Amino acid sequence: MCGIVGYIGHRDAYPIIIKGLQRLEYRGYDSAGIVLFDGESMQLSKTKGKVEDLKNKSEATISTSGKLGLGHTRWATHGVPNDVNSHPHYSNSGDLVIIHNGIIENYESIKKALIKRGYSFESDTDTEVLINLIEEVKKKEGVKLGKAVQLALNQVVGAYAIAVFDKNKPDEIVVAKLGSPLAIGIGENEYFIASDASPFIEFTNNAVYLEDKEMAIIRIGKEIKLRKIEDDAIAYPNILELQLNLEEIEKGGYDHFMLKEIYEQPRAILDTYRGRLLADQGLIRMAGIDQNLEKFMNANRIIIVACGTSWHAGLVAEYIFEDLARIPVEVEYASEFRYRNPVITDNDVLIAISQSGETADTLAAIKMAKEKGAFVFGVCNVVGSSIARETHAGAYTHAGPEIGVASTKAFTTQITVLTMIALKLAKAKGSLSESKFHEFLTELEGIPEKVENALQTNEAIREVALSYKDSTNCLYLGRGYNFPVALEGALKLKEISYIHAEGYPAAEMKHGPIALIDEEMPVVVIATRKGHYEKVVSNVQEIKSRSGRIIAVVTEGDTTVKKIADHVIEVPETSEPLSPLLTTIPLQLLSYHIALMRGCNVDQPRNLAKSVTVE
Ligand code: M6R
Repeated sequence: MCGIVGYIGHRDAYPIIIKGLQRLEYRGYDSAGIVLFDGESMQLSKTKGKVEDLKNKSEATISTSGKLGLGHTRWATHGVPNDVNSHPHYSNSGDLVIIHNGIIENYESIKKALIKRGYSFESDTDTEVLINLIEEVKKKEGVKLGKAVQLALNQVVGAYAIAVFDKNKPDEIVVAKLGSPLAIGIGENEYFIASDASPFIEFTNNAVYLEDKEMAIIRIGKEIKLRKIEDDAIAYPNILELQLNLEEIEKGGYDHFMLKEIYEQPRAILDTYRGRLLADQGLIRMAGIDQNLEKFMNANRIIIVACGTSWHAGLVAEYIFEDLARIPVEVEYASEFRYRNPVITDNDVLIAISQSGETADTLAAIKMAKEKGAFVFGVCNVVGSSIARETHAGAYTHAGPEIGVASTKAFTTQITVLTMIALKLAKAKGSLSESKFHEFLTELEGIPEKVENALQTNEAIREVALSYKDSTNCLYLGRGYNFPVALEGALKLKEISYIHAEGYPAAEMKHGPIALIDEEMPVVVIATRKGHYEKVVSNVQEIKSRSGRIIAVVTEGDTTVKKIADHVIEVPETSEPLSPLLTTIPLQLLSYHIALMRGCNVDQPRNLAKSVTVE
């Protein structure tokens, strides 16, 4: 769960690597480092902190020239974030250099053996062990760097995306991948290496994504040589033409990626259903479902696996699938599911939801379910990601790059895809009348405009945020379809503002959490008109009578809750199953403003990273 960038070619590597690292900071940002080779000497600069700190340090302390370079932004796994543990790491001879995203699980035994054979280590990292293992193999076997990397990787257990070079062979970088992403950008007599394509998109649209257990030898003036790590078989590079554009990965006038991504939701939801939802023809077209309809129709049940926000989208989907399509659904944390020895049959359909498509636990859950015979369907945002490739079929959310660590547009677009799937299945099963089906299509088509209206609450929410920015705790309540929204609202607040927040089904309050209510406790309640409204109003009364401070998200024109709540935020009316697409918007904005007012780093909250590629 780190970001790696590399360059070899005719340009100065330094600015490409620094900018690339900044774009990859969503993957980790507790320390960073860079190595540059100018044909004569290597320049290394590493620091605890952000890429900006690395830039300042590098420009003050090293020569930043060189047409070959590697850079790394880290999310610590082995060893605390400090200068020494930052990557790149040198081998003992000082000839070889490595950057690594992933974990070498058996590093301790390898390290012990290397120490016995005279190797020493400066850092606490698994990565420094790997580069010395490569060096030892290279010397012992008398092989070239590529072969040494291959032989060494066959001795390690774990996950990696690595880039290695030898200062004695400065026209070559060797890369390899297992379980962590690695893309190679192909330019005119130049190559780029990165965890995703964002660091090189302004230079080239042509890229190769390494498959697991593949390695490549990248040599200036030569074509990329791909081979399998395990058996040396030649692999053929599949050069893709990327669709990504620069604008999508920049802030576009917003102060933060999170705010930009919140505001992108009307467009993102529209892109999600564009060409799929044909309301005038009464049709939803989704190739991944159409081609596998039988699997879904004959499914005993659907199991949804995901983590974090994607798990919350899965919970919303549970309501929709059961309510509309009448298919039993279980929603599982991927991290629990994968280690639980669950009962899975070949009549089960597993839906894996993941924005990044790289979440290690979700990926492992998919692999296990496949082995046990389930049909696995992916809902991912990142095109070509590991999960998208590992699943039997799937549907992309088409939200565009999400860079803020806190998921926003990923959530609403995942719900949009899952709603379309539920509607398709409901139609195929006849569990929804034709007229209801058409009503839903029209309603879903109108959602982007309603999200636009929900975004108009921004100023009012900023005012509310001012009153609660110094809170230490917060409760979020919702029922039915909006219970997962309460969980998501709480997650947003805690992850970016560090205020302790919990989401609860509103009716569960009286079974314990109500004891927490006093005049210091803000309670965010989702009380939209459709969906157990009267019951939620009673829950709001219960909080009020205990002096809780209520922020209610209500349907436009509501008068009842207005009389009880301290603050009300109105969202447009919609059908209950679609309401999470609107009620989640004010909660995203509330956490954004509170975090900002508390001086938190909204896009890069402490201890977190965008894609969690470790267990
Ligand atoms: O990329 P994924 O959707 O698989 O990521 C899952 C979670 O790590 C992610 O949703 C995380 O909880 C976000 N930081 C929430 O905002």
